[in-house]
Amino acid sequence: MTRSMEKSISTFSALLYMLLPLTFATKPPSNVTALFVFGDSTVDPGNNNYIPTTARADHLPYGRDLPNHEPSGRNTNGKLVTDFLASYLGLKELLPAYLDPRLSEKELISGVSFASAGMGLDEITCRRSNVLNMSTQLDNFDEAVKRMQRMFGPGETMRIVSDAIFILSAGTNDMLVNAYNLRIGRSNISVTEFHDFLLQNTQLIIQRLYEVGARKIAIVGHPPIGCLPLQVTLSGKFPRSCIDSQNKDSQDFNSKLGLLLSTLQSNLTEDTKLNFLDIYTPVMDMINEPASFGFETTLRGCCGTGLFELGSSCNIFSPTCPDASKYVFFDAVHPSEAASEHVSKTMYESLARMIA
Ligand SMILES: *[C@@H]1O[C@H](CO)[C@@H](O)[C@H](O)[C@H]1NC(C)=O
Ligand SMILES: *[C@@H]1O[C@H](CO)[C@@H](O)[C@H](O)[C@H]1NC(C)=O
Ligand SMILES: *[C@@H]1O[C@H](CO)[C@@H](O)[C@H](O)[C@H]1NC(C)=O
Ligand SMILES: *[C@@H]1O[C@H](CO)[C@@H](O)[C@H](O)[C@H]1NC(C)=O
Repeated sequence: MTRSMEKSISTFSALLYMLLPLTFATKPPSNVTALFVFGDSTVDPGNNNYIPTTARADHLPYGRDLPNHEPSGRNTNGKLVTDFLASYLGLKELLPAYLDPRLSEKELISGVSFASAGMGLDEITCRRSNVLNMSTQLDNFDEAVKRMQRMFGPGETMRIVSDAIFILSAGTNDMLVNAYNLRIGRSNISVTEFHDFLLQNTQLIIQRLYEVGARKIAIVGHPPIGCLPLQVTLSGKFPRSCIDSQNKDSQDFNSKLGLLLSTLQSNLTEDTKLNFLDIYTPVMDMINEPASFGFETTLRGCCGTGLFELGSSCNIFSPTCPDASKYVFFDAVHPSEAASEHVSKTMYESLARMIA
């Protein structure tokens, strides 16, 4: 084979690879059976609608760009990253909330989200907003497994679980509540110590998922927390710009998480795949080069002034931007659907390597 042929073949396969998520949106590229998701508001499609918490997004303008234009509990104008991923995996268009009483067995076996907006890996974070902590989310998964076993038998259930992708997306609330903004519970420990504590909890979660049969586990890293509109506002910086120290913390955390995952990977059975999902890079890319992604506004949310509104303060009385796809953030913390779509494309490439 000549050099140029090799080159054009590799360019072609690179192209094909980039198009994969879009072209095969209705056909699974592998035998992934389901997507099971745990974590916070970045991946909660509405579990908090069914629990007594103030951390909710079950009101407009949240959800206004969903297919039915109704609020679902998702903390954004449209779909979450995990909705896009479920679609790229050929599973479904919207990943439902486990606590939704209308959830059918058929929906359950192709994946659900157990996540709860406001949660963190530190119990102090969860108690503050009375949301579902990780152990409750995992208990709910155990309950879901029992439900599948009754319906489909133990063998089929085991196959569904071992060929499913598990995603954990959490940690930003812990940093906001305990390290940066409120510092109520853990004001005596350093950011580094707190990172190590979050990593220990992540390791325990991976072990527990492994014990219940999960074999493809992906952990989302920290975003550039210093660029969240809320953080920029609280810093008082003018003109508005990202807080470098908080972004540096996120990068440090992500390197340690990557190391932890590769250490754990070498200790687990060969059929087990751990995957680091980088959210830092795609979000930073959009903030640094907004125009190349079609964005006009980066460090302010679409909802209200864009400086602080989120949850209950982002509501029908907030003057909201006409076109959220021009904004990286929908409210003061959460990405817009357009930003999530970009993030999910890069994450899908990483998941595709894991399941190849
Ligand atoms: C998917 O499953 C089928 C039948 O179980 C098997 O023949 C095939 O090799 C699998 N494909 C992949 C990509 O694992
Ligand atoms: C998680 O929440 C449940 C229910 O509120 C509580 O009973 C449990 O102690 C919490 N778990 C941890 C590890 O704190
Ligand atoms: C920090 O404070 C908590 C709660 O008061 C305590 O349990 C913990 O041991 C302290 N940690 C350090 C490193 O001093
Ligand atoms: C890996 O396994 C070895 C031997 O079983 C054990 O000593 C070590 O603590 C494990 N490391 C991790 C990170 O689990």
